[in-house]
Amino acid sequence: MSRLLHAEKMYGVIGHPVGHSLSPLMHNDQFQHQSLPAFYHAFDVMPEYLGDALQGLKALGVSGFNVTVPHKIEVMQYLDGLDEEARLIGAVNTIVKEEKGWIGYNTDGDGYVQSLLSKVGSALPDSNILVIGAGGAARAVISALTGHKAEQVTITNRTFSKAEALQERMAERAAVCALPTQQAEKETPSFDIIINTTSVGMSPQTDRMPWPVDGLKPGCVVSDLIYNPLKTKWLQEAQKRGADILNGTGMFVGQGAIAFEKWTGIQPDTKRMHNVVMKQLG
Ligand code: ATR
Repeated sequence: MSRLLHAEKMYGVIGHPVGHSLSPLMHNDQFQHQSLPAFYHAFDVMPEYLGDALQGLKALGVSGFNVTVPHKIEVMQYLDGLDEEARLIGAVNTIVKEEKGWIGYNTDGDGYVQSLLSKVGSALPDSNILVIGAGGAARAVISALTGHKAEQVTITNRTFSKAEALQERMAERAAVCALPTQQAEKETPSFDIIINTTSVGMSPQTDRMPWPVDGLKPGCVVSDLIYNPLKTKWLQEAQKRGADILNGTGMFVGQGAIAFEKWTGIQPDTKRMHNVVMKQLG
C-alpha cells in the first residue's frame, strides 16, 4: 500500500463486507503503472452508517469511489445526479465527482458486455440470449446487452414475477421476454448465449447448477458472473459438452476499467488489470 502523498487523489470502494475486494489491488497497481499520484482504499461501511460515510468521503475530498453490496441502491439517495444507464438499472457501482456534484454510474453491465464481445463480437445483436436471474446483476447485464443492440433476450427466474417486472422495466429499451423456467428449459437448444447472474454454484461445496447442461446448442457461450471459483461446476460441465465458457473475471476487470477511465480520463491497461486479478485468484 502506497503512502499518502501531498496532492495524491483518493479513491475507494464502500461495501460490507469489503475485506476480500480485489479492487484496491487492481486500481493501486494501475495508478502506479500509469504514474498517477492516486490511492484506492476499501472502506467497510455498515448500512446504518452509509449517509455518514458519504458525508465523510465528501468532506475528505475523495475524487470518486466504487460502491458494492449492500449499498448499490441505497447510495443513490445521496447523489446529485444519475447517469441514464444507472437510472434504468436502478443501482450505482461507480461515483464520480463532477462539476454538477456527485454523479452515479453503473459500469457493471458494460464491463460484462465488453468481456462477452471478446467471445461473440459482431454476432451479439443476432444472438438468442438467455439471462438467468432477475436481481440487480441481471438488470445491469440486460441493460448493457440491449444498449449493445441485442434484440433477442429472454429472462427467467426462480420467482417468475420478478422476471416479468424486469421485462416491464426494460421495455423502453428493447423487447425483452420473460419466460417461466420450465418453458425456457425446453428452449435450451435455441440459445446462443446463456448467462447466469444468480449465486447458484458459487459455494465450493455445491454441485447445484443454475441451468441444465444437456441439450445445449453446439458451440454456444455459457457464462457465469461468478469468478471465485474461476470455473464453477456448471462451466466445467458445459465445457465438457462443447460450450465456449466465460466466467465473471472479465466483468470485474471491465467494470473497474470503465470506472478508472471515468475518474482519471486515462484508458487503463486492462490486460495488466486482468493479470493482477488472475494472479490473486489463480
Ligand atoms: P444481485 O444484485 O447479485 O443480482 P439480487 O438482487 O439479490 O442479487 O438477486 C439475486 C438473484 O439470484 C435473484 O434473481 C434470485 O432469485 P429470486 O428472485 O427468486 O430470489 C436469484 N437466486 C438467488 N439464489 C437462488 C437460488 N438458490 N436458486 C435460484 N435463484 C436464486
